[in-house]
Amino acid sequence: MRRFLALGGAAALLALASAGAALAQAPIVIKFSHVVAPDTPKGKGADKFKELAEKYTNGKVKVEVYPNSQLYKDKEEVEALQLGAVQMLAPSLAKFGPLGAREFEVFDLPYILPDKAALRRVTEGEVGKGLFKKLESKGIVGLGYWDNGFKVMSANKPLREPVDFRGLKMRIQSSKVLEAQFRALGAIPQVMAFSEVYQGMQTGVVDGSENTPSNMFTQKHHEVQKYLTLSDHGYIGYAVITNKKFWEGLPADIRAQLEKAMKEATDYANTISETENKDALAEMKKSGRIEFITLTPQQVADWKKALEPVYKEMESRIGKATLEAFQKAAKASTN
Ligand code: LMR
Repeated sequence: MRRFLALGGAAALLALASAGAALAQAPIVIKFSHVVAPDTPKGKGADKFKELAEKYTNGKVKVEVYPNSQLYKDKEEVEALQLGAVQMLAPSLAKFGPLGAREFEVFDLPYILPDKAALRRVTEGEVGKGLFKKLESKGIVGLGYWDNGFKVMSANKPLREPVDFRGLKMRIQSSKVLEAQFRALGAIPQVMAFSEVYQGMQTGVVDGSENTPSNMFTQKHHEVQKYLTLSDHGYIGYAVITNKKFWEGLPADIRAQLEKAMKEATDYANTISETENKDALAEMKKSGRIEFITLTPQQVADWKKALEPVYKEMESRIGKATLEAFQKAAKASTN
């Protein structure tokens, strides 16, 4: 009996030791949740990060990507990150207001970015760094800025002049600047989670929305909207973010490998975004289900004039210093 017990004890010890070894080898799991389709600039960027992170860490990190609001919708995902239920997100820059980081809404001002060069000057310079700094007190670390692109408008009636927006229910992301933008046009802005927009359009809860072509196409908005105005009146991009406690708790070598993967995934996402949006426009046009509208220079001038007051109105929300630094950086690139 004693011999049996001794043998049993040794076996148990062995089992414990191998369980310990397995545990030591268990990969660190990063759950990366997002709300768009895999076949978009953000979806492809997330998949690229997964590929590179797993490669550079030799499998010590496993990245699980959950697209299409599979895990969480817009608002919930940020809460989930703060609670540590997921480790990475890339919310649109228009969705940081509810978190208390209202300065991010500067990106939503109509016509604030003349082109992608201006954008890079902002995101890669002091303004971009300063905005990330503001996230730290919320328990969040910013890892990179990812592009989507410039926005177009869609609706069930043609939108050519500011007056055409009057009385229309327009879906917006949770940004006060976007709210002010549509109010300036006489429309009725309605905050709605991205995953609910298709149905909202189909059932008439909203009459239209603004988004990038790649988002519209992959969510099939062109099947439930009649007109698309090629307005390029604003920008949608992302901040890739992680939970600060999780990030700082990683072994330094792993964190460095993940930073390398993130840098390369960022370059990749920012390289493909323009083509992704061009292709999506072409596909929507080819479908024949939605009519494209090109604005005349006079109509563009009319939109700009109608939207100009949004700057003054939102200055105190965004902060004068942030707004001025942003405009200065954006302008510098076009000189
Ligand atoms: C939206 O909610 O309209 C989009 O910004 C979603 C996204 O992440 O691109």
